[in-house]
Amino acid sequence: MNLYSLARAILFRLDAEHSHDLVLHMLSRYPSVMGLVFGCPIVDDPVDLMGLHFPNRVGLAAGWDKDGCCLDGLKHLGFGFVEIGTVTPRPQSGNPRPRLFRIPQCDALVNRMGFNNAGVDALVKNVRKSKSSRHILGVNIGKNAATPLNKAVEDYIESLNAVFEIADYVAVNISSPNTPGLRNLQGHDEFLAFIGPICRERDRLSELFGIRRPLLVKISPDMECLQLEWMAQIAQDAGIDGLIATNTTVARPDFDCQPAIQQAGGLSGRPLRPRAEAVIRRLREVLGPHFPLIGVGGVDSAISAQDRIRAGADLVQVFTGFVYHGPHLVHECADAIAELNSSGSEMSIDT
Ligand code: FNR
Repeated sequence: MNLYSLARAILFRLDAEHSHDLVLHMLSRYPSVMGLVFGCPIVDDPVDLMGLHFPNRVGLAAGWDKDGCCLDGLKHLGFGFVEIGTVTPRPQSGNPRPRLFRIPQCDALVNRMGFNNAGVDALVKNVRKSKSSRHILGVNIGKNAATPLNKAVEDYIESLNAVFEIADYVAVNISSPNTPGLRNLQGHDEFLAFIGPICRERDRLSELFGIRRPLLVKISPDMECLQLEWMAQIAQDAGIDGLIATNTTVARPDFDCQPAIQQAGGLSGRPLRPRAEAVIRRLREVLGPHFPLIGVGGVDSAISAQDRIRAGADLVQVFTGFVYHGPHLVHECADAIAELNSSGSEMSIDT
C-alpha cells in the first residue's frame, strides 16, 4: 500500500469537497512536507509546443486548484504543467453544497461547483507569491454567473488582461455545464462573435507586453460531430493556439454505477473516457497533425494516457484520476508517454 492509498482511505471518509479543501490547505500551508511525503520525481520527457517548453506531457486539469493557492506544493508532484482556475473577474461562492460527489464504483465524480473562486485579483496575488521556479502555468478563465451572456466577452477580456503577465497560456472555458447558459457560447454564431474580440485582445496585449501568450479554448464532450467540426475550424481560423478537450459531460453513459451518477452536474472520470478520447481523435482528423491539442477526461492509467496520445493529443491532463490514484498516477502516465515517445510510435497517430 503506498502512502497515498493510506491518505485516501482517510480522505474518502470525509465529504468529497471537505476532503478536497483539506488537501488544498495542506498543500498550500506545508508544501515541502507534502512534497516529502507524497512527492514524485518529475519524468524528463520534454516537448516544445505553442512556443512553450514542457518538461513532460502530463498536466493538472483546471478546477483542482481554482485560486492558484497550491503552486509551491504542486511543484513536487511530477506535473509537466498545471492549469489553475476557472477564475472569474469577481469572487463568487458557486452553487450551494453539497455539489461534489464521488462514485468510487467507476472512479468517477459528479460536480456542480459553479465556478466558486476568490476572483482574478486573488489568483494573481497567489501566483506572484509562489516561489519563482514553477511549472508551465495555464490560467483558465470564465465568466461570473451574474454576467449576462451578451456581456460574457467583457468578463473574459477583463480576466485575460489581469492574468496576461503571470500565465504561460490562457484557457478560455466556455464548456462548464454548471454556469447556466455558458455552453451557448459554443453555438455557431455566438462562438464566431465571441472568439474574434478575445483573439484581438490577446494580440493587443502581446504587442503591449512584447510577449505572446497562447490562447486555448476548452470544449465540451457533449457536441454533435458536426458542431465539433465547425467549432474546431472557427477556432483555428480565428487564431486560437490550441484546444483542450474535454470538460465534464452532462450525459450519463451506461455505466454500472450507483445513483450518485444521476446527481445533476458534470460527470468526469472513467465513464467520460471513451467520449473524451473520441473527441480528440476527431479533432486531430479535422485540424491536421500540427494543431496543439490537450486531451483530458478519464485519463487514469498508463494505458489510457498512451491511448490519448495515440488518438492525437499532444499533452494530457488529469483530474478525477488524480483524486482516485494520487501523485503516483502523474509519474505513471508521464513515464508511459515517454516510453511511447522513445519508441517513436506517438508519431503514428491512430486515427
Ligand atoms: C472540473 N473541471 C473544470 N474544468 C474547467 O475548465 N474549469 C473548472 O473550474 C473545472 N472545475 C472542476 C471541478 C471538479 C470538481 C471537477 C471534477 C472537474 C473539469 C476538469 O478540468 C476536466 O476537464 C474533467 O474533469 C475531465 O477530466 P477527468 O476529471 O476525467 O480527468
